[in-house]
Amino acid sequence: MFSVIKIASNTLPERYNPSIFNYFYETYPQGFIIAEIAHKIVGFLIAVKVKPNIAKILMLAVSKQHRRKKIGTMLLNELYKKILKENITAIELEVRTDNTTAIKFYEKHGFKIKNKILHFYQNGEPAYVMRKDIL
Ligand SMILES: CC(C)(COP(=O)(O)OP(=O)(O)OC[C@H]1O[C@@H](n2cnc3c(N)ncnc32)[C@H](O)[C@@H]1OP(=O)(O)O)[C@@H](O)C(=O)NCCC(=O)NCCS
Repeated sequence: MFSVIKIASNTLPERYNPSIFNYFYETYPQGFIIAEIAHKIVGFLIAVKVKPNIAKILMLAVSKQHRRKKIGTMLLNELYKKILKENITAIELEVRTDNTTAIKFYEKHGFKIKNKILHFYQNGEPAYVMRKDIL
């Protein structure tokens, strides 16, 4: 958990209370996925179920030195595998409108921008809502 929190604080602009990570793991372990290289955690994804048929990605991060090696793609593919058994029909997420890297990543994986939410983040920045139907 310590490594996940470290990657989150090094790569994501939002500040999270460390206890939230245990909370997500305990409430929806299927959505808590880590990527390791030689026993070292290099990325993670946290998703929760927001409706019986909809999962939401809350966090996805790969440490800087390991990007563009398909680790984010593997994390996403692992999530698909886990939630396929649960009748989930769509995955949603919010992303900063200026996070072009993440937007390109999600678009490459078939997510589409559905909406824009003004003042979404702690610092007042807006978010796009992106969604992918998986069934
Ligand atoms: C978004 C993120 C998780 C992607 O992880 P990654 O392991 O580097 O992504 P992948 O190697 O699986 O990339 C898959 C595809 O996404 C697209 N992509 C990924 N990074 C990109 C970039 N910097 N610019 C353009 N396209 C990009 C490409 O199409 C890429 O395929 P290609 O390398 O064959 O061209 C990573 O950049 C990251 O941790 N960013 C910081 C945290 C963040 O913004 N998280 C999302 C918040 S919701």
